[in-house]
Amino acid sequence: MNIEQRIEQLRTQIDEYNYKYYVLSQPEITDFEFDNLLNELIDLETKHPEFYDPASPTQRVGSDLNSEFQEVEHIYPMLSLSNTYSEEDLMDFDKRIKKIITQEFQYVCELKYDGASISLTYENGRLIHALTRGDGVKGDNITNNVKTIKSIPLKLKKNTYPDLFTVRGEIFFNTADFKRMNEEREKNGEPVFANARNSASGTLKTQNSSIVAKRPLECFLYYLLSNNLPTNSHLDNLKLAHSWGFKVPLQYIERVNSIEEVIAFVDKWDEQRSELPFEIDGIVIKVDSLELQKELGFTAKSPRWAIAYKFKAEQVETRLMSIDYQVGRTGAVTPVANLEPVLLAGTTVKRASLHNAEQIAYHDIRLNDFVYIEKGGEIIPKVVGVNKEKRSPEAEPIKYISNCPACGTELIKKEGEAKHFCPNEYGCSPQIRGKLEHFVSRKAMDINMAQATIEQLFTNGLIKDITDLYALRKEDLLKLDRFAEKSAQNIIDSLEESKKIPFERVLFALGIRFVGETVAKTLARHFKTIDNLKNASYDDLIAVNEIGGVIADSVVQFFNTEASRNMVEKLQEIGLQFEVIENTETTNKSFDGKSIVISGTFTKFSREELKEMIEKHGGKNVSSISKKTDYLVAGENMGPSKLEKAQSLGIKIINEEEFMELLNA
Ligand code: IVH
Repeated sequence: MNIEQRIEQLRTQIDEYNYKYYVLSQPEITDFEFDNLLNELIDLETKHPEFYDPASPTQRVGSDLNSEFQEVEHIYPMLSLSNTYSEEDLMDFDKRIKKIITQEFQYVCELKYDGASISLTYENGRLIHALTRGDGVKGDNITNNVKTIKSIPLKLKKNTYPDLFTVRGEIFFNTADFKRMNEEREKNGEPVFANARNSASGTLKTQNSSIVAKRPLECFLYYLLSNNLPTNSHLDNLKLAHSWGFKVPLQYIERVNSIEEVIAFVDKWDEQRSELPFEIDGIVIKVDSLELQKELGFTAKSPRWAIAYKFKAEQVETRLMSIDYQVGRTGAVTPVANLEPVLLAGTTVKRASLHNAEQIAYHDIRLNDFVYIEKGGEIIPKVVGVNKEKRSPEAEPIKYISNCPACGTELIKKEGEAKHFCPNEYGCSPQIRGKLEHFVSRKAMDINMAQATIEQLFTNGLIKDITDLYALRKEDLLKLDRFAEKSAQNIIDSLEESKKIPFERVLFALGIRFVGETVAKTLARHFKTIDNLKNASYDDLIAVNEIGGVIADSVVQFFNTEASRNMVEKLQEIGLQFEVIENTETTNKSFDGKSIVISGTFTKFSREELKEMIEKHGGKNVSSISKKTDYLVAGENMGPSKLEKAQSLGIKIINEEEFMELLNA
């Protein structure tokens, strides 16, 4: 046997032992024997770099080099599922499907693994990249990290896989592995991880793959995508994927004939979930036939052929010891409970939101009561009720505050709103700090400034409001702790850079109540300049599509406040963008004079966005097909009549990708 053959033999053997150990959980040799084989391979590969193979098992150890992740576009967008919480919702889901599909069909029920989703693409049986979900359209390329997960094959077995396919799955820690890892960390004096799901996604985003290699991550695969999948059944394809070497927990997957059986599956796992060796947060139900999946198609956000049933959040009971009041950037006051620490879904909880005075009164919550807490989607858990049976004589009614805990101003409570507010918008420090944080945030002015820096600048009196940011000099920053030439210059540069941020984002950055990203866009596009917006009346505002009374009120009030007007004026002087810049000359006119029909739903862009692109590039978007139509942009689920008409008139039918190609031509 020559060296190349020996290398190949070792790789195959090691792959097989890895598979037996990590996928089948059936170790076949001792660690010592395994290490001997691996060391021999490492040795041969080092001496013979000409036989390098990125899919070699030696590539799973990771590297110490820090690497920034590149964004890569998903071949198929990564959609999420719509959630349901009740049996009734499931029955409705079934009804919706049966409206479209009249023949018999089957469902596949799977557990909803609670980790971080991953998208793996294989070409000719080799892993070519692994992407995070990202924004669903593009994800981070974390291939080097994923390669260290031994249950993910770098090379596939058998030969029944498509030449090119993507497989989606969930990366997570087994409960026992997570516990063991934490015990180890504690022993080494390292901080322990609070929650398995967050540490799985945190680990995946670690920019040092040798750290990832040391953590016992697992991966279950649940969804295949390709132009030529081997069978027409989702479950049969998963079974094949299992035979290619993927970890598919087939013992927990069931194919059933009716929604009643789906519900039985849901109930069974709701009861038995704590016995599983990993965490789940619900059940995923999918139509098994791929043909029927195609017929059902997608809504803008999720497939119509699948749904997630989410289990009710876990609840625990603990004692409410005291209450703090927090003031947010809009002045809204939130009462926060300080609790006797308690374990909830893997984390120790010490604080929870009490929402507002009305909720406290509604539940009749008193100090020293035993309260129920729950974790919702938010980071901070919430108090959802009180156990009155355990009420002790020490329980004291809560006297809600009447003055701002930060600045002492008397709180107000508006008609119809649940929260109390501190009206001292420009003089109350948590509000100012909150506004500053919002102003610099990535989606607003994208200024390279950490929360701690704002805190520092604020306490040192270097900034008192947003406009002061632009008066900062490098020398000021250098006087602060932890600042060096480079970090100071970075801030100055990014402040300068922020003067180019378009009007709609500046408007969002101002932090006007109820003016989020989308509303800011709508207002900017409609009014074009800050002066037009400033002079707009309530009626002018509500006349704009999608702007209602609450937003209109808030905008009018903002510009009626002298301090707001002063701030805007100063920012105008500083040179921020307060007008929409129409950049007609920079866009090409690839659709000049073309008449284009859009039909169906699209994955990357909304119809509104496609329409805008057509118009921006000189074309005309028309609603019905005629001889004069140049293109039909066909999305998912378009009506058959349009398609037929276009075909009969010989009109060019293009998909979203082809549309983009034409546009960029
Ligand atoms: S199928 C288009 N199956 O749940 C359908 N998802 O919104 C793709 N998840 O974050 C999803 N277990 O990562 C599917 N057995 C399972 C799943 C599962 C967990 C996650 C997925 C995504 C979310 C669905």
